[in-house]
Amino acid sequence: MVAARVTRAVIGLSLTAVLVGALLWWNPSGLYLWAKAVHVIAVISWMAGMLYLPRLFIYHCEAEPGSRQSETFKVMERRLLTIIINPAMVVTWVLGLWLAYEGGWFKAEWLHAKLALVIALSALHGFMVRWVREFGSEQNQHTQKFYRIINEVPTVLMIAIVVLVVVKPF
Ligand code: HEM
Repeated sequence: MVAARVTRAVIGLSLTAVLVGALLWWNPSGLYLWAKAVHVIAVISWMAGMLYLPRLFIYHCEAEPGSRQSETFKVMERRLLTIIINPAMVVTWVLGLWLAYEGGWFKAEWLHAKLALVIALSALHGFMVRWVREFGSEQNQHTQKFYRIINEVPTVLMIAIVVLVVVKPF
């Protein structure tokens, strides 16, 4: 079961990598704007998940461990993470780095600041993976209040990141 899932994930990722690699190598005109559009779509998906997952944690805290409700939350959290949040983060990073390379942005200071904030967002993503695992084994370590505070962090980071890339203040 786990081996089959890993094989499917490896095949899916390899095919995507080959397709994206071929497209970047071909580099038809207009590719930058198409890549930016897909980058923004991936960003929206990543952020949607990062904003919804802590909400699920807040409700999950109220469910009795082992109850039917708790089992439902576990499935919702795991699926949201593996089907939406993880792939969206990979696509956001791959296309973001390619846009930075292709657009010659690597020396821009707004990009340095943006990267620092995106690294913070990715670290938060890592913690969310850990919390999904903890809830999955009925070993949640945190209170509802903790997840309520965490719920605000992606919003603040997202606002700063979008202002940096759109306004480019420095
Ligand atoms: C993962 C690392 C990331 C890198 C390296 C990266 C890099 C870039 C680059 C170079 C551009 C093109 C800028 C331009 O052509 O003017 C861009 C566009 C954009 N990025 Fe990212 N990005 C990343 C993640 C994110 C995240 C997490 C968000 C939002 C939360 C975001 C939001 C946007 C938006 C909204 C645009 C379109 C800006 C415009 O066209 O005015 N990016 N990104």
